[in-house]
Amino acid sequence: MYINLQECAKRNSYSLSWNFLEEVDSTNEFLKRKTKVDCLRKPSLVVVRKQTAGKGTRGRVWIDDPEACLKVSFLLPLKKNLFGPTHLSPLVAVLCCRALRQLGYKNVSLKWPNDLVVNGEKVGGILIEKISLEEKDYLIIGIGLNLSPSKIGEKLQKEVGSLLDKMPEEGLQRIREDILVELAGQLEKITSVAVVLLDECIISEWTAYDEYFGKRITLLSAGKEPITGEDMGIKKDGSLILRSGNETKSFCIGEVSVKL
Ligand code: BTN
Repeated sequence: MYINLQECAKRNSYSLSWNFLEEVDSTNEFLKRKTKVDCLRKPSLVVVRKQTAGKGTRGRVWIDDPEACLKVSFLLPLKKNLFGPTHLSPLVAVLCCRALRQLGYKNVSLKWPNDLVVNGEKVGGILIEKISLEEKDYLIIGIGLNLSPSKIGEKLQKEVGSLLDKMPEEGLQRIREDILVELAGQLEKITSVAVVLLDECIISEWTAYDEYFGKRITLLSAGKEPITGEDMGIKKDGSLILRSGNETKSFCIGEVSVKL
């Protein structure tokens, strides 16, 4: 079995509606349609075995090995008046990293603004979208997480990491379920976020999980010279702080991407 939803729903105290699909274009798009067309309004999640048009950040495609990669999207109503929530990206990343670490995956770290990495290799990506309906905002948080090694990196001609270093003998069902229950437990907290800034606790948690904190990184931006400096963590609005010589600058989400 791919996943036992009844079992997961029982273990999750929050009243999420759990759904599983064998195949869909994109779980984010599926939840958007459900919300807009079928008036789905309650906190929900959808897990899929195979995506035919998975979406990544910055308009990129998300390609994965269907069995090895856990793909899920959450639909979460947001508190009113929480607009322009750039801080939500690092917040969601912190909650995902916390969930995985609590399950014992202590080597999972973060790369700004919201990549999950293990030993410097990307193991998971998060795509956050927001829709507004009837004066209420809904967040759609899509997560793709490579659980076990696969041949996908060869196809993409780049290093792709995974949470586990080999396929467990008992298969991935239990691992998928544990991760989903823990993620649901952490992400439900988003529904009560009412401020547009990160608090000090989340900022320190980010620093603890930041793969590159205190290290030299390069920031890339289309049509501009790369900027190199020291990763100094994040600000309350989720922007990245970079120290170059005596100068400290911050960069907004979408403005730059991080390279080692
Ligand atoms: C990234 O580019 O790093 C973000 C990737 C997000 C992929 C996930 S898979 C589940 C959900 N559905 C999508 O179409 N994308 C996200």
